[in-house]
Amino acid sequence: MYTRTFGPVAVNTNYYAPEMAFSLDEKIGEGAKREVFRSGNAAVKVQKPYVSKNFVFTIHIPTWLFGIYKIGRRDFNEAEYQNYFGLIGKVPANLRDSFMKVFELIEGNGENRLVAELISNWDGAVSRSLLQHGPIENIAFWNRMDKLEQILLERDIPYFDIRPENIVIRNVSPNYRIPVIVDYDTMGARSLIFQVSLLSRKGRAHKIKRKFERLKSQYKLP
Ligand SMILES: Nc1ncnc2c1ncn2[C@@H]1O[C@H](COP(=O)(O)OP(=O)(O)O)[C@@H](O)[C@H]1O
Ligand SMILES: [Mg+2]
Repeated sequence: MYTRTFGPVAVNTNYYAPEMAFSLDEKIGEGAKREVFRSGNAAVKVQKPYVSKNFVFTIHIPTWLFGIYKIGRRDFNEAEYQNYFGLIGKVPANLRDSFMKVFELIEGNGENRLVAELISNWDGAVSRSLLQHGPIENIAFWNRMDKLEQILLERDIPYFDIRPENIVIRNVSPNYRIPVIVDYDTMGARSLIFQVSLLSRKGRAHKIKRKFERLKSQYKLP
C-alpha cells in the first residue's frame, strides 16, 4: 500500500504519468543519504538503508537513526518535501528555475520516495553537479549564484547546504548555464537549535556568505 501526496506543482501541471514514479530507469546520482534515479522525465530519490561515516575506520549507521540525530526525523525525503514548500514561496519568480521542483512524496512499504523535477540540459542529457563537473567559467552561472546568495540573505532563508554536490549545472543552451539547487533535506529549524550562532540573523547571514565564498574559491574559474 502506498500513500501519495502530490504537491501543488504536480497537481497544476500534470507533469508525468503517476506510475512512472515506480520505474527506476537509471541511477543518476548518490549522496550520503539517498540514491537518485531517472524515471522518465522525473527524478526519484530513495533513502539508502545506511550512511557511511569515516572515522579511524568506517562505520555504517542506519539512515533513519542518522536522520533523528541530524534533522530530528527518520526520513530525509519527507523533510525535503516539507522544506521545499516552505522555501519556494519566498523565492522570486525570476529565480525559481534555480530550485529543483518537488512533485510528490510516496510513502509505503517501509520506504519513502520523493519525486522531483529531473534537471537536464538542452540536449536531453542529465545535468551534472558541480562536484561531478569540476570548476566552471560561465558569466551567467556565477551571476545567478550571486543572485541566489542575495535572495537567501535578503529574505533570511535558512539554506546552509550550499555545496558542490547539491548544485547541478543546467545547460539551458550551449553557452547559457545556470545553477540549480537539488537538495533541501537539512534546512531550517533543527540546525538552528544546535548551532548557537544561527539563532541570530547575523549569524545565519555569516554562515551563508562563508558557504558561497568557499564554493567560489574552489569552483569559479577566472
Ligand atoms: N533532480 C535532480 N536532477 C539531476 N540530478 C540530481 C537531482 N537530484 C539529485 N541529483 C544528483 O544526485 C546526487 C544526490 O542527490 P541528493 O539529493 O543531494 O542526495 P543526498 O540527500 O544523499 O545528499 C546529487 O549530488 C546530484 O548529482
Ligand atoms: Mg546532497
